[in-house]
Amino acid sequence: MTEEALLRISQRWARRLLILAPAALFILLTACSDPQTTIEPASDMTEAIQGVYEIVFWLSMFVFIAIMLLTLWLAVHYREQPGREAIQIHGHQRLEILWTIIPVAIVLIMLVPTWQVIADTTDTPPEDSMVITATGKQWWFEFTYEGLGLPDDEGNPTDLVTANELHLQAGKPVHVLLRADDVIHSFWIPQLAGKVDMVPGHENDLWFTPFEDSVREEAYLGQCVEFCGASHANMRFRVFVHDEEGFNAWLENERSDAVEPTSELGKLGATLFVVRCAECHTVRGTAASIADFGPDLTHVGSRTTIAAGILDNNISNLVDWISNPAEIKPGINPENDVIDKERPLRFMRAFEDEISAEDIQAIAQYLTELK
Ligand code: CUA
Repeated sequence: MTEEALLRISQRWARRLLILAPAALFILLTACSDPQTTIEPASDMTEAIQGVYEIVFWLSMFVFIAIMLLTLWLAVHYREQPGREAIQIHGHQRLEILWTIIPVAIVLIMLVPTWQVIADTTDTPPEDSMVITATGKQWWFEFTYEGLGLPDDEGNPTDLVTANELHLQAGKPVHVLLRADDVIHSFWIPQLAGKVDMVPGHENDLWFTPFEDSVREEAYLGQCVEFCGASHANMRFRVFVHDEEGFNAWLENERSDAVEPTSELGKLGATLFVVRCAECHTVRGTAASIADFGPDLTHVGSRTTIAAGILDNNISNLVDWISNPAEIKPGINPENDVIDKERPLRFMRAFEDEISAEDIQAIAQYLTELK
């Protein structure tokens, strides 16, 4: 190839880069408004991690800029000149010592705070922590608040079980025990905590304290971050941080038994629910309160989303979900699953094949009334 042709090609690429660079920058900047951001920490844990991230970021920036400037200067200063011959510096001891010491120092600067943060975040959680077991399942999260349920007949504390929407109190440390029922999942709330794996048969945990000023109406987004099957990306959860009053109000409602449906359609739905859904789901205070296979639906009407954070909680989405969940969450319906013959095969079926559209409507109505 001639020199001229090479020059033309490099000019063409330079022009492309000039167009692509602002586009790439734009994409980067739009990512900043992502609600799953890690750079707006809202708890002690994520702020500590952010601290390390900033050190690494600014050190990398320093190294990047220093190397670019040096490269530029060397390229200009030592450019080819008639009659000048290159000096060979192979085996230059002082230089080699220097470029060994500098990277080691940089790594050490990053290592010390990293260690500190690992030690701090894996330290024993405070005594007054709220203890919550988070269990990853294909494909949803179960949350069990230790001792926060209504006392049983003998006055002993019970646990409070809910699903997919976690409610916390600002300033109150929370100790999350991470468990998995089937395969490996991972627990991550980018602004609050994580990522720590949920491994079957293994006990991981983490603890954090949401900042006092982290109270907000909007939910913090959580997400499973370990590939766990066809609907891994559809395994999300919501986290609401309240002030003390707000948290107690939520708790008061959540721990009480289900409310009676008021509409005629809702009452029909309640009857159908016991027949059709009680095999897997619990609605406390009703005949459907033995199963613990599917999410606890006692107060499902008060959740903002259904299907593990995938759909807004409204009648039409509930109808779609009950009719054919596999369409919304691929893989939920493992008809050919013969991996474990011992374990009874239970899953969220396509009820449009089993009951009428009117009956599905009634069940959906009942669920929205379970505030
Ligand atoms: Cu659970 Cu990915």
